[in-house]
Amino acid sequence: MLTNVPLLPAVLVSTVYLALAACGSEPQSSAPPAKKASVAPGPATAEAVKVSAGMQIDLASGLIIDEGWNLVLGHCSACHSTRLVTQNRADRDTWERMIRWMQKTQGLWPLDPATENTILDYLARNYAPTDSARRAPLAARLMPPNPYR
Ligand code: HEC
Repeated sequence: MLTNVPLLPAVLVSTVYLALAACGSEPQSSAPPAKKASVAPGPATAEAVKVSAGMQIDLASGLIIDEGWNLVLGHCSACHSTRLVTQNRADRDTWERMIRWMQKTQGLWPLDPATENTILDYLARNYAPTDSARRAPLAARLMPPNPYR
């Protein structure tokens, strides 16, 4: 008799699952298909998302897909997340100083000159200093009412 007890929850769970699956199937099938890299200069297997005209980001690493991005992925993701790269902004000299610091103190291996040049060009081009790292303030009409006015 006790052996029948676990059956009821199992039947309930599968019924709920089927009901959810039935509800979910309509909006899912009308949703646009996942975006794929179309002109990625890196490996064709990259799952990328287009963020603006001409700019795509590799979903796994967060790196902007541009010449040399796969070198950055290969050399700069062994010790820390690539987010440490993408959250930084610096000019070419400062990127170079960061690389030297990691080589001197953190065990980053020597990079051959061609590789290093491509990496530095990529970093200086895509992660250059900006006026502000913060997003622009919201327009007044999008702000909640000001209770002190
Ligand atoms: C051998 C290990 C190693 C490799 C490979 C490596 N890094 Fe690092 N990196 C570190 C360590 C360790 C830190 C310090 C992490 C921390 O502060 O949490 C660091 C910090 C950083 C920082 C933050 C610096 C700061 O001032 O906040 C950046 C940016 C960075 N790395 C970029 C890169 C880039 C670009 C590459 C590829 C050229 C790279 N890293 C490859 C070890 C490495």
